Amino acid sequence: MAKAKKEGYLSSKESRRISRENRKITNEYEKKRKRKNVPETEYLTEMRDPNNAVEFDNLHTYFFTDAGTVKSVDGVSFEVPIGKTVGVVGESGCGKSVTSLSLMQLLQRPQGQIVDGAIRLNMGDKAYDITKMPNEKMMGIRGNYVSMIFQEPMTALNPVFRIGDQVNEVIELHDGAGKSKEDIKARTIELLEMVGIANSEGVYKMYPHELSGGMRQRVMIAMALACNPRIIIADEPTTALDVTIQAQVLDLLRNLKDKINSSIMFITHDLGVIAEMADYVVVMYAGRVIEKGTAEEIFAHPAHPYTIGLMASKPVVGKQVDKLYSIPGKVPNPINMPNYCYFKDRCEMCVEKCDGAYPCEVSLSPTHKVSCYRYYDKKEEN
Ligand SMILES: Nc1ncnc2c1ncn2[C@@H]1O[C@H](COP(=O)(O)OP(=O)(O)O)[C@@H](O)[C@H]1O
Ligand SMILES: [Mg+2]
Repeated sequence: MAKAKKEGYLSSKESRRISRENRKITNEYEKKRKRKNVPETEYLTEMRDPNNAVEFDNLHTYFFTDAGTVKSVDGVSFEVPIGKTVGVVGESGCGKSVTSLSLMQLLQRPQGQIVDGAIRLNMGDKAYDITKMPNEKMMGIRGNYVSMIFQEPMTALNPVFRIGDQVNEVIELHDGAGKSKEDIKARTIELLEMVGIANSEGVYKMYPHELSGGMRQRVMIAMALACNPRIIIADEPTTALDVTIQAQVLDLLRNLKDKINSSIMFITHDLGVIAEMADYVVVMYAGRVIEKGTAEEIFAHPAHPYTIGLMASKPVVGKQVDKLYSIPGKVPNPINMPNYCYFKDRCEMCVEKCDGAYPCEVSLSPTHKVSCYRYYDKKEEN
């Protein structure tokens, strides 16, 4: 029987060729990353604005897979100001996690690589470009400057060690110099109490499986806070929890936000959560930022048809509808992006110009930016 060549499938020969080429590309990146004794000047940079904790600047993160290059993050720019919470929102698969993993340099390697752009991290007296930092230097950044609360605490906690030992280890590793065992334990207990665990001495001796999902997430938050990081990334921290526990954990994060002076990058697909937490909102779609602004701007004056669609698909208390709105169609294939606006095929508000190339960013206010042809008259005004 003749082999039917299905549309969209690669022959094994083609796939082998791609894989060979990928290896060549990723080997180059890996060689650079694994270098030892790289002089600081190579990754030293300057913040565009010293009031920012992080600046993502035209970040491109790709995965070189056997099926082709997945352009997961394709030119993302936004800032996280010091002491503020930035909500990153968008449908599943739009590149939110890959953006945050790029900041931690925790991408699945060697396939996943930052291929272009900069991530400037404010270190206080100086700034580093994370995209240029070698592996050995990243160890000192993770935990101390940037830490992460993951979506599923059970996979992030080690099932065979007691909670206390796991939190102790984080403190020992990053902040242990000159501390005795008792000091470290006291700090762990203090952290557990800070995240609202009443029976802190008891939980200290427990294993992860003895705790509920909400309690485990509190422990994860305690670990993320252990070394007073400047930036905390919370990647869908409440998605795996049920609604009441979700509300408690959000309350906790909101309270902590006022106590610690860290910036928070809060990733979620849930606009309701963003409304409660964020000072600024970044809306991502298919690996790009399509709209950003202050929370007030995004919620009171959403501009991009995608943002407007997200708002319409959110239930509102007191408003009766038969069926919630859902945006028609799906996200384009990240291996094969169109050469026009990525949202055009799903958009119900297209104008004539939308046939053109991908729209550039238009300023609606000094903080409110949108990439959409509907606002090009504003661009000419600027
Ligand atoms: N390790 C990987 N290998 C290949 N593709 C990946 C990998 N991780 C993520 N991707 C792709 O990158 C895109 C963005 O993923 P992600 O950032 O996880 O989305 P989300 O916005 O839901 O967090 C998706 O198309 C996903 O399939
Ligand atoms: Mg994700």
